[in-house]
Amino acid sequence: MSSRRIVAVGNDPDVHLLAQQYSEEVLVTDDPLDALDIVRRVDPDLVLLDHRFGHTQIAEFFRRADNNHADIPVVVVGTDGCDIGASIEFAQMGARDYLRGRDDYGRLEHIIEAIEGNPQAGVQTAEQTNGTSQANTKESASRFFAEDLAGSVSMAGKSQAVLDALKMIRLVAGSRCNPILIVGETGTGKELAAKAIHLLRHPNDSFVAVNCAALTATLLESELFGHVKGAFTGADRDKTGLLELAGSGTLLLDEISEMPMDLQAKLLRVLQERTFRKVGGVKDIVCSATIIASSNRNLKAEVQANRFRRDLYYRLDVSPIVLAPLRSPERRADVSLLAEYFLQVSTICPEKPNKVMSLTRLAVEALEKHDWPGNVRELRNVIDRAILLETTDKIGLSGIVIDPTLCAHASENPTAGLTKSFSLAKAERELIFRALHETGWQKTRAAALLGITRATLYAKVKQYNISKHSHASAGPTEDVPEAAMSNPISELAPVC
Ligand SMILES: Nc1ncnc2c1ncn2[C@@H]1O[C@H](COP(=O)(O)OP(=O)(O)O)[C@@H](O)[C@H]1O
Ligand SMILES: [Mg+2]
Repeated sequence: MSSRRIVAVGNDPDVHLLAQQYSEEVLVTDDPLDALDIVRRVDPDLVLLDHRFGHTQIAEFFRRADNNHADIPVVVVGTDGCDIGASIEFAQMGARDYLRGRDDYGRLEHIIEAIEGNPQAGVQTAEQTNGTSQANTKESASRFFAEDLAGSVSMAGKSQAVLDALKMIRLVAGSRCNPILIVGETGTGKELAAKAIHLLRHPNDSFVAVNCAALTATLLESELFGHVKGAFTGADRDKTGLLELAGSGTLLLDEISEMPMDLQAKLLRVLQERTFRKVGGVKDIVCSATIIASSNRNLKAEVQANRFRRDLYYRLDVSPIVLAPLRSPERRADVSLLAEYFLQVSTICPEKPNKVMSLTRLAVEALEKHDWPGNVRELRNVIDRAILLETTDKIGLSGIVIDPTLCAHASENPTAGLTKSFSLAKAERELIFRALHETGWQKTRAAALLGITRATLYAKVKQYNISKHSHASAGPTEDVPEAAMSNPISELAPVC
């Protein structure tokens, strides 16, 4: 995160907020001559000057700045509907640029990039810079695959974590290892890895998947094994199970930790004997499919908690493929690469097929700062949303919308963190923590994000005893002082 410093001159709160969007250190004054003093003392990177001071005062500001050799870029900020012609005059006085009004605020990002001498900001590739043909895009996209795994399945990444996982995928796929276990938080690419193994091992056979958490015990059993007519009430005809449907292909048992214990025992028998019977059936059916189990829970801990069978765990855990969380130090470096990859392969906007988009440096900074509790899936969604909203060919900071309620790591349910033990005070504490976290603990920006004053933010940080090292929802509800309950959550409404 950049440590740029901005001086905002004028008393328009919109201009202060604009400055806070780009700087963790904003100094505000409503007097242009005072501003010169501040400029001299703090040597800022940018000055935002309200055009309402009028030509005379602004000209005086530039004259004095010149005399003091204060070579600081100044951007004059206009109000909606003000005279555009004025920009030339401001430029002649020495202004770096002029924003016509709120609709033009978005341009500040590009101005800052130009000032900071990085006109090719973002993660543009040479191909994108030199030409924007579709062929070039595809070519550059392929450079981001650590390995083009198999057919349609590609895993983007160049971090050690992904390279290790890719190596394991190839090794395991090329072996006779069966069953195969893939572990990792939700959204880390377990299903993608399973499909890659399938395509490498059985390119011409079926891939079938079932989520063990989505079905009741009885349904899951008949889904897996099938049943014969009359096996139970409602079984009015024979049903082929997924084990049989997979044939010589692959069956993915997603979220295996959620499989009921008695079904775990039946699965173990299939893995050992390679045969099974339909529910209510008497005939042994041979199972020749590769069985892949995936889990976002720590299976060893599940065994210790007596929720998962030890024998099945040992059978599965022969050479597990581990997918690291995106935020982990070993995989974090992939964030910008994945973002660019999704930018290039996204099909969310079919009407923008030839539009090669890139990300501004500030947008990449925002992506890199986030913790990605929903991992690659969350990142993909953020990029899709940005593409959908973007009207230019470059995605800037304002296009990056990260859901602040997504705070519980490894949670499939975005509101889990809030609903587990819900109270207004707890939710408020959580939102404040998130805002601070999102803004790298810059209180001015966090307050702006939350739509509250800095003073209110300070009071709440103290009240809830929030610190960098406290978890968002740490501390029992009883720890939250009673007074907190009377603070209207609505004050934080802009976050949601
Ligand atoms: N390394 C990667 N490269 C490209 N896309 C990925 C990668 N990892 C995950 N994805 C994408 O992220 C999304 C979530 O991946 P998925 O395999 O469903 O995760 P999981 O099964 O662990 O929840 C999918 O759209 C997938 O294609
Ligand atoms: Mg999955």
